[in-house]
Amino acid sequence: MIEDMLRTPSAVRDAERYTAHNYHPLPVVISSAEGAWLTDVDSRRYLDCLAGYSALNFGHRHPTLIRAAHEQLDRLTLTSRAFIHDQFADFCRELAALCGKDLVLPMNTGAEAVETGIKVARKWGYQVKGVAPGQANIIVADGNFHGRTTTIVSFSTDEDARADFGPYTPGFTVVPYGDLAALEAAIDGNTVAVLLEPIQGEQGVVLPPAGYLPGVRRVCTDRNVLFIADEIQSGLGRTGRTFACEHEDVVPDLYLLGKALGGGIVPVSAVAANADVLGVLQPGQHGSTFGGNPLACVVATEVVRLLATGDFQRRSAELGERLRAGLEGLLGKGLVAVRVRGLWAGVDIDPALMTGRQACERLMDRGVLAKDTHGSTIRLAPPLVITADEIDHAVAQLAAVLAG
Ligand SMILES: Cc1ncc(COP(=O)(O)O)c(C=O)c1O
Repeated sequence: MIEDMLRTPSAVRDAERYTAHNYHPLPVVISSAEGAWLTDVDSRRYLDCLAGYSALNFGHRHPTLIRAAHEQLDRLTLTSRAFIHDQFADFCRELAALCGKDLVLPMNTGAEAVETGIKVARKWGYQVKGVAPGQANIIVADGNFHGRTTTIVSFSTDEDARADFGPYTPGFTVVPYGDLAALEAAIDGNTVAVLLEPIQGEQGVVLPPAGYLPGVRRVCTDRNVLFIADEIQSGLGRTGRTFACEHEDVVPDLYLLGKALGGGIVPVSAVAANADVLGVLQPGQHGSTFGGNPLACVVATEVVRLLATGDFQRRSAELGERLRAGLEGLLGKGLVAVRVRGLWAGVDIDPALMTGRQACERLMDRGVLAKDTHGSTIRLAPPLVITADEIDHAVAQLAAVLAG
């Protein structure tokens, strides 16, 4: 039988046999990729509509990024921050300029950037704001997703992410996302920061009501509280702007960045802020062996240069409208809600029809890879190099899945 000759089933079995089951991947085994397309071990091709949770905004193996990585591999890969390397200053200067901030602090994963933001905000609270020792508090939103460390899951409202990982880190207050009055009421003299995703990706691309982010900005300024925007998934071109906050002309005090910053090649994250905030850190108080390593810096510098042209943001905004039109055309034909910003869409399928997981499995059978979030919601986040025809193709496949 043809099935017996396929390499996928045994590769899926082996992957499950030798790993902790902390993920539930689709049963597809990828072996190569280029641009917006993936190829599996059985030579089947798939349109990538997840883009590594937005880590692949520039597509798979973008030639400029790959060239930079290859050249750097032949020169220098790691020094640690004990020494300065020759790629470090360019990266920090250019990323700070892209963010409109004085300084950046490079780390590796998104969760580390979030941890860094939390530590900086607490230290700023004690040293600059004058909060009493051990009393600093940070306000977060329900439905948040900021990563997987013990501190971060302490303020998650997703039981799967949080349960049985206690004891939990204190110092966080959860308020409803999008409710400015609740946020304002939660602020007291010990509040050092508000930490928010400008759009909640994992929650299903949930947009806050218009005016919420500017309101948060105003309240934070009035009450001497730092506004930390987690743009790890929403940032770097995904929504049609460099930062999702820009849609409402909001400038946070700290940007948390990750995912696409590493060009889909290396994990690179960073915190960007002005000197009066990031300047609270002194030697020995924070760091990471791999943070800001030469390979990461050259790739991320090229990422910043790609973004500095504005081409990817424009593309994302324009093609996002096409994606929106296509998806909205499926409302009432199996979809009950659609939320789109740039090339980022949360799609709610009628739960009576199928779960998000079932939809993603059927899309996979039709050569489109996407990921469910909760229940019957799936998220579409293709690489920003996707073409108009490819968007139409993805929407057509979704229509066929919904039509059964
Ligand atoms: C908004 C947001 N913050 C933080 C993270 C954590 O990033 P990482 O998985 O690189 O630690 C994610 C990952 O999905 C995210 O979406």
